[in-house]
Amino acid sequence: MNIIAKLALAAGLTTALSAGALAQDLSGKVIGFSQIGSESGWRAAETAVTRQEAEERGVDLKFADAQQKQENQIKAIRGFIAQGVDAILVAPVVATGWDDVLAEAKEAEIPVVLLDRGVDAPEDLYLTSVASDQVEEGRVAGQWLVDEVGSEDCNVVELQGTVGSTPAINRKQGFEEAIASASNITISQSQTGDFTRAKGKEVMEAFLKSSNNGADICAVYAHNDDMAVGAIQAIKDAGLKPGSDIKVVSIDAVPDIFSAIAAGEANATVELTPNMAGPAFDALAAYWADGTEPEKFIITESKLYTAEDDPQGEYERRKDLGY
Ligand code: AHR
Repeated sequence: MNIIAKLALAAGLTTALSAGALAQDLSGKVIGFSQIGSESGWRAAETAVTRQEAEERGVDLKFADAQQKQENQIKAIRGFIAQGVDAILVAPVVATGWDDVLAEAKEAEIPVVLLDRGVDAPEDLYLTSVASDQVEEGRVAGQWLVDEVGSEDCNVVELQGTVGSTPAINRKQGFEEAIASASNITISQSQTGDFTRAKGKEVMEAFLKSSNNGADICAVYAHNDDMAVGAIQAIKDAGLKPGSDIKVVSIDAVPDIFSAIAAGEANATVELTPNMAGPAFDALAAYWADGTEPEKFIITESKLYTAEDDPQGEYERRKDLGY
């Protein structure tokens, strides 16, 4: 069974994900993919799935790793335009600063599809955006905490994603909306961990030091699982029990967070499918077939997982999927 079919099975989704057998043939198409980098397990899986989706459809995928830098992404996109690719996929590291390069792609009549993050640019500069509802992801995480703590006072520390990226902006907003009516829950400290495990650990260590060695922290909300895994290590190093002394809620649903949930060291995660490329290729196929304009925003599901959702089984189902 290939990675896409396994992913569809793991997520229990057959409609939102193209499971290989249904994939349209795009033989002869050359598609450039400007990827952010490899900051997280989730992103590694997105890259693996995109490569596999391309292979299944006969796409010649030109891959460019931007090493977390917008300037590298802009350079790569200009390179794709110069090569005359048929389409461009881009996972934009931050929201702003895309107008010029997207206008250049439009001028060259090359459709652009945004993957997993949004941009602050006119909507006519890209064909479609395949992403989750990131505000909703934050709301789901926040609502889980509201339900979990009830009337107990709770100081939350927040590990934000990359500054200026849409998931960092929107996941913060959604979480704040969810806890707004719970006066017992307060975000006591909030800082970026740049979506990485190492930064998540480092920032959590600082939060613990400035919070009475963690005694004043009830929960950590991390904008992705990798930062949560780093925070879990910092909490353990401080002699506390993650998952019970300090609750842990995050976003992505990568295998390592399911191991942590199974071990009682994390409490909840919100799933983000790494299969953004399947719907993107489907949209391009329909567009090329008869000019069908896709929905401007193709939204993937945001499902909550906790210890009640067979975390060990979820780990087993996902562990070979490229994370
Ligand atoms: O844009 C999606 C986010 O980027 C994922 O949640 C995170 O892990 C990644 O690096």
